[in-house]
Amino acid sequence: MSTTPNARGTQSDDPDAAPWWRRAVVYQVYLRSFADANGDGTGDIAGLRSRLPYLADLGVDAIWLNPWYASPLRDGGYDVADFREIDPRFGSTAEAVELIAECHDHGIRVIVDIVPNHTSSEHEWFHAAVIAGPGSAERSRYHFLPGRGPGGSEPPTDWPSVFGGPAWTRLNDHPDDGEWYLHLFDPSQPDLNWDHPGVHAEFHDILRFWLDRGVDGFRVDVAHGLVKHPTYADLDDRPPHVQAATVHDHPFWDRDGLHDIYRSWRSVLDEYDDRMMVAEATIHASRYPLYLRPDEFHQAFDFDLLRAEWSAKDVGEIVHRAVATAASVGSNPTWVLSNHDVMRHATRFGLPHGVDLATWSVTGPHDLLDAGLGRRRARAAALVALALPGSTYLYQGDELALPEVWDLPPEVLDDPVWTRSGHTEKGRDGCRVPMPWSADGPSLGFGDGPPWLPQPASFAELSVESQTADPDSTLELYRRAIALRRELLVDDEQVAELDLGADVLAFERGAGLRSVTNMGASPIAMPTGELLLSSDPALAATAVELPPDVTVWVR
Ligand code: NOJ
Repeated sequence: MSTTPNARGTQSDDPDAAPWWRRAVVYQVYLRSFADANGDGTGDIAGLRSRLPYLADLGVDAIWLNPWYASPLRDGGYDVADFREIDPRFGSTAEAVELIAECHDHGIRVIVDIVPNHTSSEHEWFHAAVIAGPGSAERSRYHFLPGRGPGGSEPPTDWPSVFGGPAWTRLNDHPDDGEWYLHLFDPSQPDLNWDHPGVHAEFHDILRFWLDRGVDGFRVDVAHGLVKHPTYADLDDRPPHVQAATVHDHPFWDRDGLHDIYRSWRSVLDEYDDRMMVAEATIHASRYPLYLRPDEFHQAFDFDLLRAEWSAKDVGEIVHRAVATAASVGSNPTWVLSNHDVMRHATRFGLPHGVDLATWSVTGPHDLLDAGLGRRRARAAALVALALPGSTYLYQGDELALPEVWDLPPEVLDDPVWTRSGHTEKGRDGCRVPMPWSADGPSLGFGDGPPWLPQPASFAELSVESQTADPDSTLELYRRAIALRRELLVDDEQVAELDLGADVLAFERGAGLRSVTNMGASPIAMPTGELLLSSDPALAATAVELPPDVTVWVR
């Protein structure tokens, strides 16, 4: 680790200081929806640059940018046509380099998304593969197979796409050819063949391309998916997703062959100072340590909190497990409450346990939602996530307690999940609605024109402008919490779980700071000590009871 202060963001002089990512507050920027400088309705790099003072003021240590590469945007940019070009809707590679330097000037590190499982069907490799035909070297970079059944008219395996329907598409435009190609996601996202040495070499080069331009880290998309079964075994009765069970020898998720890839990536990163990579791996918790070995990922997203019910027992177990897992391999835990793929937690926490979050926006009943309760719990959960040791990933708009816009009309939906699920799931657009910066204007300060997804009227009072300087607002709560975390909580990684009752999530950190959350239905005794922060603005410093759905930090 470099120990000299440098132009790469905040850097400690202390040779014993932990690497920056172990304690970072990382702010996820969904660029398309963050700030639109040119008024075309899509967020862009120039818009983000204009808002860097906001992020610096919020106190975040790093940003993570969703893919900004040239892309048809069939899957929000996770369909990459050129990994070395910025999509012109977002800006240019030169602007990206300027942005990275400006972030560093503000003391903010930059993590970019890298998407190694698939390319866009508009990538030059895929174009070449389609043209070159069966058996060609060009096709061997992807997974092309003949079909099964009469005339090869059925997919080669029973593998489903994550977005619904089969994971194979036949080249309909080429009837003489008839091969099928694999896409674990949308048909516009053909899976790369990681048995091909050229694929390895290409990604090493892409990593270096962005490292040379100053990025501090990579968020690795679908890190658990790159390696496929060598003879394409059927799924049969194995679960299509592996997070629910410890599954070995799954034909496309979490295969042991992945780890050699990440070891080689790690050696590329280690040629540079102070860089990191974080895995997006939707796997069973017991498998995380494999990805976090000292010569692989620096950290991995832990998604259990993002799926957790509002229950002290469940959240307590997740915290215990995540801290122990990370410690067992010398990594650090990560905490995520929301991201661009899930229902925003200010809404999720306002729905009763057991509601199917994927289909609820279509099926309802919609009167199950208690939006006020959701927001109250979201504020309480934020203080938990910011008090825990490790890195905390915030999704843009978390700090405003933005709700899921679950009632977007079908005609504006853009997520392929909507069509591929046969209109049974609206997909992820409801958490991707552009940020409200001001209380009025054509897109509430997002840009000068209508945004690519419409904002609900309720976003006006949740805007940055509306919440700034209001001491009771969620934005000011985040600002205070991040500042206190920086002051009191980053010097060590110790956490002691406290038993204050079955409905209470409580733990103590090194500086004597205790975080106490009442997750039950009745008030509990107020914890003793100096009240540093409360998620409930109405809670008096002299209160004798801690109401339900509130977190306090006391010392
Ligand atoms: C995970 C990303 O977070 C999601 O948005 C994307 O659709 C899939 N990977 C496929 O790239």
